[in-house]
Amino acid sequence: MKNIHRILSIETSCDETAAAVVEFQANLDTITPLSSVIASQIPLHKQYGGVYPEMASRAHSQKILPVVSEALAIAKIRSTKHEVRKMSLRATSEERGNLTVSGHPELVEGSGPRLLRPTGARNDKISAKIRNSVTAIAVTAGPGLAGSLIVGVEFARGLSAATGIPLVAVNHLEGHIYANFVGANSKLQDTSSKQIPNSKNQKSKQFPNSNNQNSEQVCDLVFGACDLPLKPVFPLLALVVSGGHTMLVLMRKHLDYKIIGSTLDDAAGECFDKVARMLGLPYPGGPALEKLAREGNPKAYDFPRSMLHSKDFNFSFSGLKTAVFYKLRSLGLVDSHANPISPPAREYKLANGNSNSVSPPARGGARGGGSNYPRPSASTSATIRDIAASFQQAVIDVLVAKTLRAAQELGVKSIIVGGGVIANSVLRDALQDPHKLPLAKGESKRGFKIYLSPRELATDNALSIGIAGAYHFIKGNTIPWQKLDANASLRL
Ligand code: KG4
Ligand code: ZN
Repeated sequence: MKNIHRILSIETSCDETAAAVVEFQANLDTITPLSSVIASQIPLHKQYGGVYPEMASRAHSQKILPVVSEALAIAKIRSTKHEVRKMSLRATSEERGNLTVSGHPELVEGSGPRLLRPTGARNDKISAKIRNSVTAIAVTAGPGLAGSLIVGVEFARGLSAATGIPLVAVNHLEGHIYANFVGANSKLQDTSSKQIPNSKNQKSKQFPNSNNQNSEQVCDLVFGACDLPLKPVFPLLALVVSGGHTMLVLMRKHLDYKIIGSTLDDAAGECFDKVARMLGLPYPGGPALEKLAREGNPKAYDFPRSMLHSKDFNFSFSGLKTAVFYKLRSLGLVDSHANPISPPAREYKLANGNSNSVSPPARGGARGGGSNYPRPSASTSATIRDIAASFQQAVIDVLVAKTLRAAQELGVKSIIVGGGVIANSVLRDALQDPHKLPLAKGESKRGFKIYLSPRELATDNALSIGIAGAYHFIKGNTIPWQKLDANASLRL
């Protein structure tokens, strides 16, 4: 028991309010996820065609407490069930009615194991309980939307100040990387949705879930044993492909990052989002575009593969986006006066990590949030499907080719891939298809293995932050709550 640690992790960098609990031993051989709760804001932002920063921040403030409470409650149930540990978050019978979240006496765990209800008592007891049950609190400190990050960071600082539990600051990109270290014994199954009450209005309120984008639901990942591959071996190459970043990172050991290439303009996910908007698809664009592309011909249009043959490991996707725009315009599918550089859905997270140059999507604007793209009405037409498939293929060809070349040139033993875009099945298949991976000159056998983040951990979540946090914690990288600050432009 002595060497077992638990981290409560919190992620609020963009439009997902997420919390998780992971358990691990000091040697980090196994990291056991006990809970992972995500409240997505997709329904909120969908009407604007992108993330509306101020609304995102407000929604995080409303959801952070119930989401963290839910993650702690589920962890308690799972640890009890699996007898992982006697000293758990389980409440004694005396406390059952009074289990509050530290600093928030208005909330208490009620008779239903996952329900919260108001109370005024025993704040000190729950502080002690959390103190005894959680070894550290990890939180995403950046990069991301300043107003979103600050909610998670301030909540974590408050918990730390009230309980004395050490804080661990995690870079959001580390979360995407460490999603690949979830462990050989962990399986992330289906997401289940459930209702939990809102802190202000005690009526049961649903949280958003990407499966059901019109109602608010909270989703929880379920875990069990399975045969995920063993952990990646160093030196390794990490490809991060998200809405705000596209980069190749060389890691010689844990928590050691050397960025060897990144996008010079749009991130891959950002490009998916922008092209999806041109095609009249709803936010978030990536999954919608993938769906549309399924029935299209990826060879129908020969879109540019920018920087495919450049000697460096950088990427560029804005030319591709513009090529799609001109193709649509030449086909009469967008207004000839439309501007190819429309306000992007996720411009808040630029490649340089700067999130201050955000212009929020126009309030009450048309779908697409102020975009000046007239929507092609026949968004399901064969042409649009072919354009979607051809665009997607162009992005994937560049990502796959450059990543493999970098891996071969650097002689790494593993490639790991994280970030929202690796949820894309065509990219997953392309990276795993041996026929699509040519051997390097003089190479008889590929010298590296490829690991892809489990799909459930590709997009933003707190579990990945908890895994990265575990590595930081064991290395002694804690930070006093007085010193932690959200940093929208935090670099890896
Ligand atoms: O990592 P993530 O959740 O958030 C950021 O850190 O940005 O990534 C979100 C990005 C969005 O741009 C979204 O469109 C893209 O990942 N994405 C996809 C897919 N699922 C999410 N792109 C292509 N295909 C998908 N299936
Ligand atoms: Zn992300």
